[in-house]
Amino acid sequence: MKITSIKGFSDIFPGEVETWQWVEQKVREIFTFYNFAEIRIPIVEKTELFSRSLGETTDIVEKEMYTFADQDAKGTLLTLRPEGTAGVVRAYVESEMFKIEAVRKLYYLGPMFRRERPQKGRLRQFHQIGAEALGRSDAFIDVEVLLLLSDFFSSVGLEGAELQLNSLGCEQCRPKYRERLLDFLKDHDVGLCGNCRRRMDRNPLRVLDCKEPGCGEETKNAPSILDSLCDPCREHFDLVQRLLWQADVRYDLNSRMVRGLDYYCRTTFEWKSSQLGSQSAIAAGGRYDGLVQELGGPAIAGVGFAMGIERLIMLLRMKENHAPAGPLVYVAWVSEKARGWAFPVVHRLRRQGVLVEMEGEARSLKSQMRRADKLRAPLVLILGDDELDKGIALLRDMTNKQQEEISLEKVEEVLMLRKAN
Ligand code: HAM
Repeated sequence: MKITSIKGFSDIFPGEVETWQWVEQKVREIFTFYNFAEIRIPIVEKTELFSRSLGETTDIVEKEMYTFADQDAKGTLLTLRPEGTAGVVRAYVESEMFKIEAVRKLYYLGPMFRRERPQKGRLRQFHQIGAEALGRSDAFIDVEVLLLLSDFFSSVGLEGAELQLNSLGCEQCRPKYRERLLDFLKDHDVGLCGNCRRRMDRNPLRVLDCKEPGCGEETKNAPSILDSLCDPCREHFDLVQRLLWQADVRYDLNSRMVRGLDYYCRTTFEWKSSQLGSQSAIAAGGRYDGLVQELGGPAIAGVGFAMGIERLIMLLRMKENHAPAGPLVYVAWVSEKARGWAFPVVHRLRRQGVLVEMEGEARSLKSQMRRADKLRAPLVLILGDDELDKGIALLRDMTNKQQEEISLEKVEEVLMLRKAN
């Protein structure tokens, strides 16, 4: 019997993996300009790390984590990481990075695991690119991470992503808002779903984020957190908005956006695309000033985001002109002698960084041309006995369908030149 993959866990095959590699390369390029350095953290962490960081009443901690007992340490539960921020902050605190440099800007790439109901754009193993800036509490760094994302989107040619912005206040002003909201919810709880009624007292803000239509209707006149911010939070948020305007980044305020994780304070954001359907968030994040301390470190502020790679790639692949580059040259050979001549030449070209492909088994010229087309090779080098006898090869430009004869001695030189252009 065939063994199949697990629901919500996908393979990434050649043809698609090139887009992933290209995206990852762009990440390394752009994130480095902003002085973010890569950190690689484990995929498995102690469960407590996530329950303490993300919050006991979040969907992730309540029902979506892959958790199992550690066979080596009785009583210890382990979890496949559902996100990266908690692990990065754990590593930051554990290694005492803050003692070496006051500000650390880190990024990471890799798989995350959440036991959500799989659907388009929602997987159980998905991949994130994340960035965390630790050690700065000013509004400029909030905007810096937003500009990093916006520059990254431009560099990969992603258009039409919309930024939604909110402030969740701080320990001073949020409890007061929480009370106001709870009073409102208590007066309107008849139309709320069971889940919201159950956790309303412990986490009333999550009710605003509930996708049940009844909850949306019931809370449409709920008080806005933006009317409850204390002066320092208000000033911080005003500056974030001013800096975004200056940088020409457009956004919409969304005071109902509370995010699914409890560590946030002040600035929070989501970049969405209507082309993605119901799972519309490409990237999301915000400020988490209490998390380092919560995980045993000093009072150090943090802000960051994570982007879903699958969702980003889905958007990139919707664009017609986006396709990863195939080989530059496809060598079509139609005789044994031609194959014998071409094989070492192909090897030499590859060693010099030219992307070349040729078949190993005999195929008709027509079928080889079809394959070159499929690989989207811009150049095809055609070789048969006739050409070899004349000491030439035919070089076909697949874009304008022009063909030229080049002498066999010049083949490598010509193709190297094409590569340079
Ligand atoms: P998050 O909103 O839970 O935030 O996830 C960030 C992004 O990961 C989402 O916007 C989405 O693109 C992608 N994503 C999440 N779940 C799935 C899924 N099941 N399938 C496919 N893609 C998914 C965080 O994870 C925070 N750690 C972000 C952050 C970093 N905040 C501060 N620093």
